[in-house]
Amino acid sequence: MELLVLRALHVMGGVFWAGGGIYATLFITPALMAAGPAAGPIVAEMQRRKLFTVLPIVAILTMLSGLRLLWIVSGGFSAAYFGTTQGLTYAVAGGASILGFFLALLVSRPAGVRLAQIAATLDSLDPAARAAALETTARLKRQAALGSAAAIWLLTIAVGGMAVARYL
Ligand code: HEM
Repeated sequence: MELLVLRALHVMGGVFWAGGGIYATLFITPALMAAGPAAGPIVAEMQRRKLFTVLPIVAILTMLSGLRLLWIVSGGFSAAYFGTTQGLTYAVAGGASILGFFLALLVSRPAGVRLAQIAATLDSLDPAARAAALETTARLKRQAALGSAAAIWLLTIAVGGMAVARYL
């Protein structure tokens, strides 16, 4: 029974996390960037709907259920299991997703939050301050894009590994 609950939680959470993350990075974020100031109300509505709270919570549940599953299938993280191709694949894929989570959390998210703050104050700034803010904005956009690109590569490795590990 525990296995069934863990697997259901893990697979549904993983689909939501990886699918949502990849879709947002490849399509939603570039569309919002292209929209410029018009993106403000859309991001505010996403915030109101708690997207930026729900996504990390689902990711944490996926990681915790994954770690528990790994504990079970490896017989308590036995070294012998991680010596098999299957064990190694689950470990690398799981590790990649955890790394992707921290990249998104510590690199992309702070840049996104700062960008939203700057966008909200931009109109009230004098020309010199505005020019400086726009420079900061360009740097933050690069930081967010780099972090998100690396995170979705890691998520892709995670999903690919999880998909095939059982048959290795
Ligand atoms: C984006 C993140 C993740 C996604 C999308 C994902 C997806 C999946 C899927 C679809 C399965 C079912 C595979 C099958 O039955 O053949 C699975 C199984 C598994 N996952 Fe993940 N996973 C993720 C993260 C993790 C993490 C962080 C860990 C642990 C460190 C982990 C450990 C496992 C283990 C051990 C299984 C095998 C469970 C079993 O055989 O009953 N996963 N995962």
